Amino acid sequence: RGFIPIILAVLTDTLALFGGLTVVFCLLKFTWKCWCGLRQFVLSEHWQQDLRTYGQWAVVTGATSGIGKAYASELARRGLDVVLVGRSDVKLQMVAKEIRNEYGRKTHTIQVDFTEGGGIYSSIAKELQGLQIGILVNNVGMTCTDHFAYFLETPDAEQKITQIINCNMLSVPQMTRLVLPGMVDRGKGLIINISSEAGVRPHPLLALYSATKIFVTYFSQCLHAEYKSMGITVQCVAPLMVSTNMTQNMQVNCLVKSAAGFAYKAVNTIGHSSYTSGCLSHALQSAALSLLLPDWLRMSTFFVRVLRNVPNIRTYQRAESEEKEWSSAKKK
Ligand SMILES: NC(=O)c1ccc[n+]([C@@H]2O[C@H](COP(=O)([O-])OP(=O)(O)OC[C@H]3O[C@@H](n4cnc5c(N)ncnc54)[C@H](OP(=O)(O)O)[C@@H]3O)[C@@H](O)[C@H]2O)c1
Repeated sequence: RGFIPIILAVLTDTLALFGGLTVVFCLLKFTWKCWCGLRQFVLSEHWQQDLRTYGQWAVVTGATSGIGKAYASELARRGLDVVLVGRSDVKLQMVAKEIRNEYGRKTHTIQVDFTEGGGIYSSIAKELQGLQIGILVNNVGMTCTDHFAYFLETPDAEQKITQIINCNMLSVPQMTRLVLPGMVDRGKGLIINISSEAGVRPHPLLALYSATKIFVTYFSQCLHAEYKSMGITVQCVAPLMVSTNMTQNMQVNCLVKSAAGFAYKAVNTIGHSSYTSGCLSHALQSAALSLLLPDWLRMSTFFVRVLRNVPNIRTYQRAESEEKEWSSAKKK
């Protein structure tokens, strides 16, 4: 046999082997991802962790409405006493009363405004003294505007930039610093940081918000790697759309979760994943977005211009209800 046919045969065999191995690797990866998804979003419904083993108290920031209030209620329902942290004392008292009446758990409230910066943490530390804190939910967060906007369209930009950084970013390591030493001493603890899909990939027209959320994501993942061997779990939750004040209480549907529904599903994922979209619908949407909206398209000037012209949710909902009224009037 000649030299060239031998080389070709070896090359063909090598390519076939490489192709086979690639297919096996992809299949294994796909099977593993399916198993993780099944465990995180389906089986977790039946394999719920006993959260009381982390400690008596859960601290939730931004607990007076939306996802924070829903987390506080869900944790109380599962047997924890809750420290509610928020900016409005009236709302704090209302939520605390609701939780005490409904779940019979103890509550403690701390009134602070997270936009104020580093000065507030010594008073929070005093309020938390003596409590055995098993769970911290770093939930508090705010956006620059209620619609997609260029960075220079941020209203009161000089103030707002500092406020958003203080609220969305500074609060996370500062609150962690207050509770982590106790958790490390007891060799047990759970920190849940609420990031966002906007923190998974860069999102133009949400520039500052998106940047603050990638901070939360990276901080959570690094902290988890540092402290998991000491019995501490740091879970990063990156939701898509949840119907809350932040999203102008948009209508709940198969894509948009209610805050309570989301918190129930997200709390189920505890112990099953240190990084999660929170629920199956959001995990599927996230996967679909990464396929259908690749970086080159999302970051293009064309897409930014299209997105800038999307009406905000309030305008959209008003137009939708006006249309419904109009068509029902027409039928009559
Ligand atoms: N909703 C979504 O679709 C969505 C998606 C992805 C990620 N997230 C993230 O989820 C978290 C919660 O969002 P949400 O939708 O529940 O928002 P929300 O409905 O606006 O609730 C935010 C909570 O934080 C409190 N808060 C806001 N600014 C504060 C401040 N400066 N000091 C103290 N408390 C303050 C609010 O208090 P008041 O009751 O007084 O307003 C409220 O309790 C945020 O981190 C957000 O980025 C939300």
